[in-house]
Amino acid sequence: MANIIFYFTGTGNSLKIARMVSNKIGNCEIFSIGSNQGITINKEYESIGFIYPVYYWGVPKCVKDFISSMTITNNEKTYVYAIASYGGFKGDGIKILNKLMLDNGIKLNYGKTIRLFSNYIINFNVPNDIKKRLDKCDKKLESIIDSIQHKKTNSTGKPNGIVGKFYNKFIETVSQQDKYFNINSDCIGCGVCKEVCPVNNIEIVSNKPEFQHHCEQCLACLQFCPKHAINYNDKTQGKK
Ligand SMILES: Cc1cc2nc3c(=O)[nH]c(=O)nc-3n(C[C@H](O)[C@H](O)[C@H](O)COP(=O)(O)O)c2cc1C
Ligand code: SF4
Ligand code: SF4
Repeated sequence: MANIIFYFTGTGNSLKIARMVSNKIGNCEIFSIGSNQGITINKEYESIGFIYPVYYWGVPKCVKDFISSMTITNNEKTYVYAIASYGGFKGDGIKILNKLMLDNGIKLNYGKTIRLFSNYIINFNVPNDIKKRLDKCDKKLESIIDSIQHKKTNSTGKPNGIVGKFYNKFIETVSQQDKYFNINSDCIGCGVCKEVCPVNNIEIVSNKPEFQHHCEQCLACLQFCPKHAINYNDKTQGKK
């Protein structure tokens, strides 16, 4: 029977994980969550995976909306798992997903977080030991994939109230956060930012990006711009 992975990525960490899991378990399609909502899964799967980054101690808004609006039928025996990558504080990255799933009648069999490094250069700097962290991640991922292949289960528990408040504030304001992006004169209008945006939040108008206010704050546009022309509220200019 086939497997499927739904992933969300801004800067590629979660996509790397999704590809590694998919290659290892085999017969597995991977599907970008992006702006998709309200999907119905009728086909019976061996396993369904969700792979995404931790955002504000919880899950990205588009992942939240995707889970809350999806319907899964004919999959009572399907093994459902989640993997969330994070930079330094995982918060309730899996617990919040579990709660969203329970509210929508979906049972999460297994959930794990995996530490990588923070791409959130609005508040942090990219660490120097990325290579070491990637190697560590690969090792941990091997044991997570082994657990998935053996259909292991774990209990994720309930989200914490304080974490929930912090997270809900993020969800309320994130779409509009793109108003703080500014574009400097190095922009060459190449459109890379538009291409990498996972939720089609960028239009190129008169050779400059214009943000459409349904941003996920994933920072892909800022991180992948070949001219380092995108800056967030004058906090990120010149950062690695
Ligand atoms: C908006 C935003 C919020 C984040 N919040 C957290 C967080 O609460 N805890 C944490 O450890 N890392 C946080 N991070 C870092 C990411 O979870 C981490 O870098 C992840 O591996 C990025 O995955 P991606 O490359 O698939 O986008 C955040 C990153 C972004 C862009
Ligand atoms: S990727 Fe950078 S240089 Fe290219 S259009 Fe976007 S902002 Fe301009
Ligand atoms: S506009 Fe930039 S930060 Fe916002 S979702 Fe698109 S790529 Fe991510």
